[in-house]
Amino acid sequence: MQNLQITSKLREDFPILKREINGHSLAYLDNAATTQKPQSVIDALVCFYENHNSNVSRGVYTLAEEATEIFEDGRKKVAKFIGAESSSNIIFTRGTTESINLVASAWGEKNLIKGERIIVTEMEHHSNLVPWQLAAQASGAELVYWPLSLEHGSSCVGRLDLHKLDELLTNSVKLLAVTVASNVLGTVNPIAEIVKMAHDRGVLVLADAAQAVARMPIDVTEWNCDFLAFSGHKVYGPTGIGVLYAKQERLNEMSVFQGGGGMIRKVSRQASTWADAPQKFEAGTPPVAEVFGLSAALEYMKKYGMPEIQQHELQLTEHALKRMEEFPDLELYGPADIFERTGVISFNLKNVHPHDVAQVLDEYGIAVRAGHHCTQVLHEQLGIQASLRMSFGLYNEISEIDRLFSALAQVRRIFN
Ligand SMILES: Cc1ncc(COP(=O)(O)O)c(C=O)c1O
Repeated sequence: MQNLQITSKLREDFPILKREINGHSLAYLDNAATTQKPQSVIDALVCFYENHNSNVSRGVYTLAEEATEIFEDGRKKVAKFIGAESSSNIIFTRGTTESINLVASAWGEKNLIKGERIIVTEMEHHSNLVPWQLAAQASGAELVYWPLSLEHGSSCVGRLDLHKLDELLTNSVKLLAVTVASNVLGTVNPIAEIVKMAHDRGVLVLADAAQAVARMPIDVTEWNCDFLAFSGHKVYGPTGIGVLYAKQERLNEMSVFQGGGGMIRKVSRQASTWADAPQKFEAGTPPVAEVFGLSAALEYMKKYGMPEIQQHELQLTEHALKRMEEFPDLELYGPADIFERTGVISFNLKNVHPHDVAQVLDEYGIAVRAGHHCTQVLHEQLGIQASLRMSFGLYNEISEIDRLFSALAQVRRIFN
């Protein structure tokens, strides 16, 4: 397949992949936590500070105009990347977490009242749970869980059953917050179908695209979701930059999030009026260099193409799932079918603590994550405290997965 052939050339774009860890070349398999950065993103950050550094929207001199152009051009690039109707639907935040907090707070404050309901799923990251708990506590609304369908056996399948959603979509529900792709199970949820069901009952949908954005094409217009959130650092861009997409009708019904410079129209002694969206939701000096870095990251991904990146990741996933069959003492959490998932694969080796496994893998230069991956509700449902997670990026290779399985065999020898 085309993408696997380009991988070794592509790897040269990522300086950190040249590192050796504990005498082995780095096999970075923790891309669900954060992705590594190509040279073009690193260069964009340096270029901004070397050539264009200035605050935005506040100066008439050349540097300020350049910085403003870089910032607003970034907004246009993001809008295009996710198929948004206009760049004014794009709000820059610090990350997915802040984007969801913004909606829970600024939309929740004006639109939720006692007795109403918010639906979240059992597979949500804490970032798409805790802000809704806070919004529910502040408004008197109730948080309702869309339960996971778990089938225990040789593997544990974690899917959301649309029939169950149908039962949950009662008149009192105002909003459904759901992840596009699970950061543990790898499950991809049918967002367009979910949005259609919710909208038919007058329920709004927030889509958490933190894991999806680097793994599949995203089209907010096709999905028709009301809100969508993602982080720059998970899409080969810098930390400290995130995106909130919101439909114009939703922006109109939101109160302010934070007060400060940049978000006002007129300030008087006791009260103020607000700028239009998106500036209304971007108080203070925004992360301009980070937006430049994010633009470079989106350009980088576009160069290879999202369908091709997705195909490459699924090929790696297929290989990893096949190799797992050699381990009867390995429990997989999530679908075994690549057509329902991404390259985020969580598992446990029976009778070995995941932290011990991750530590041994590190001795071989292999970076995977162990823990609850900010999904304690999900882990409780799975009946486990913690799990191991390998997650792929566009630079990963089959040989790295094979190294991981050789090291897992070694772990087994050590602990059994
Ligand atoms: C599904 C999902 N949602 C939200 C987040 C939070 O992202 P951030 O920490 O970048 O705000 C993550 C991070 O792992 C995630 O995987």
